[in-house]
Amino acid sequence: MTDLLQRIADLQAEARTALSRVQTLAELEQFRNVYLARRGKIPTLLRTVKDLPSDERRPVGAAANTLRRGLEAEYLAARARLRARGVRPFDVTVPGRKPVLGHLHPLTIVRRDIEEVFLGMGFEILDGPEVEEPRYNFDLLNVPLEHPARDLMDTFWLTDGRLLRTHTSAAQARVMANRTPPFRILIPGRVFRHEATDATHESTFSQFEGLYVDEGVSLADLKGVLGEALQRIVHQRVDIRFRPSYFPFVEPGVEVDISCLSRRGSHRDCRVCKGTGWVEILGAGMIHPVVLQNVAVDSTRYRGFAFGGSIDRLAMLRYRLTDIRLFWSGDPNFLEQF
Ligand code: DAH
Repeated sequence: MTDLLQRIADLQAEARTALSRVQTLAELEQFRNVYLARRGKIPTLLRTVKDLPSDERRPVGAAANTLRRGLEAEYLAARARLRARGVRPFDVTVPGRKPVLGHLHPLTIVRRDIEEVFLGMGFEILDGPEVEEPRYNFDLLNVPLEHPARDLMDTFWLTDGRLLRTHTSAAQARVMANRTPPFRILIPGRVFRHEATDATHESTFSQFEGLYVDEGVSLADLKGVLGEALQRIVHQRVDIRFRPSYFPFVEPGVEVDISCLSRRGSHRDCRVCKGTGWVEILGAGMIHPVVLQNVAVDSTRYRGFAFGGSIDRLAMLRYRLTDIRLFWSGDPNFLEQF
């Protein structure tokens, strides 16, 4: 027993000396950790008291408790003293807390990449309104009145007769009317479709529209520019395929596919290309002479090509996503992965 009481006395002397050397709040915390914290010397000693023979328990327990309470009080007094002395409770040695940083949305990343590629090819980036007049979305683009795209099904109509643009092509006439050829223009933006959503269809998505008008522009230029641009946008070598297609505002019209990136070997039950090995990425074509005339561009002198594609689709390919609805889900688990 005297042994134990002696140890307590020694511990007290040791702790006092340690405390008298403390200069800063950080050192004070260090002191607390060594002597008073849960795994510190004094609580550890106190935990052994219960195992002592009953006649020792009381005097040793009392001595140890007195020591603990005394040191606790001295610790608090020292802390108050240090704080009052203007030693701020700021410890530069404490590891910093990392602030949560925001970051770009995946669609913004891909849009900026697309802009970068076309800027590098001499295109200017322009904007068009999301709330649009039907003549820009349809009429000036040579879309006839009876065209199914005007259906209540596909278009969000506003009560004042305007609409939410269904494609970025709506900006074509606006920007062309303000330019004299030659010009190269890229118009990225959001578009809206009134249709049921599923893994590959969303009512809001983003497109990029391109226009290149000059003397002597041909389908070969379209192939060259798009072929190069697409390689750069998807950051890898892909095969590109042009298929004849129909859009009222171009003649001839094509659809542009790139080879499916989602797998190496067989695409047999691939969800992205549905087994074909190709993914449609763009609509394009030579701007219809009627469209050029609608914006007072001399169609006997100038020709041009136009193209329009889905930014969401490219982002899905780039990040190997199989559900377009994730983009607007606002789900942090999804967004934090980029
Ligand atoms: N606007 C079309 C769409 O949303 C895509 C498109 C096709 C744009 C052909 C064009 C084009 O500029 O020439 O489906």
